[in-house]
Amino acid sequence: MIIRPAQKNDETSILSIFDIAVKWLTDKGLSAQWGTESFSEKTEMISKVQEWINQGNSYVAIINDTIVGFISLVRHPPAYVGELHGLIQKGSFYIASLVTDRHQKGLGIGTELLHFAEALAEKKNHKWIYLDCWNGESSLIGYYEKAGFKTMKPFFVGTWKGVLMKKPLLGNAVQKPNKTLHRIPTKGMAKS
Ligand SMILES: CC(C)(COP(=O)(O)OP(=O)(O)OC[C@H]1O[C@@H](n2cnc3c(N)ncnc32)[C@H](O)[C@@H]1OP(=O)(O)O)[C@@H](O)C(=O)NCCC(=O)NCCS
Repeated sequence: MIIRPAQKNDETSILSIFDIAVKWLTDKGLSAQWGTESFSEKTEMISKVQEWINQGNSYVAIINDTIVGFISLVRHPPAYVGELHGLIQKGSFYIASLVTDRHQKGLGIGTELLHFAEALAEKKNHKWIYLDCWNGESSLIGYYEKAGFKTMKPFFVGTWKGVLMKKPLLGNAVQKPNKTLHRIPTKGMAKS
């Protein structure tokens, strides 16, 4: 699998994996997450995908020349998180979108895209990476928890329930040794 920046001509393939996900969610009785209408038929979702591609920091996962995953990172949390905006460290990456081809389920493509995003954020010395997801299905939240994300706060957009999550990155998770505490007191030892 390779991961490369998303390009303008990837739009149809990206929308197509969103469409497959919408159908998959609907078939599982989970249409409350993304509705039942194909994203490729929703003007606002087509524009959203174009916006994500155009702003950079969006990536596709490719297996055998086929796009099988998409992740989009943004610098500003989406407006719908409302007042929770203040809980997010400025300038951090926020995962605005993550989707993988449901025909490739179980390969860990989403996990690889998450690791890729985390590595990008670590390179920029970010302490946290953030995302939100639908708060109506414990297995989706469980998926992110398994990936190291922690629940911050639930929120509502009308009747749609979401939850804000964050993951500490390397510079945050690994405590730097405290030099004062760990210095060997050679002078004192010699005296005693
Ligand atoms: C979430 C996602 C990107 C993870 O991709 P991945 O790392 O390739 O992992 P998989 O697709 O194998 O899914 C991992 C598990 O999460 C579950 N899961 C994934 N999306 C889910 C959802 N929206 N609601 C409930 N469970 C979900 C899968 O059923 C699977 O469970 P299992 O291990 O018990 O079979 C991918 O499953 C996906 O595109 N889901 C649909 C769209 C979506 O919900 N995107 C995230 C928006 S925040």
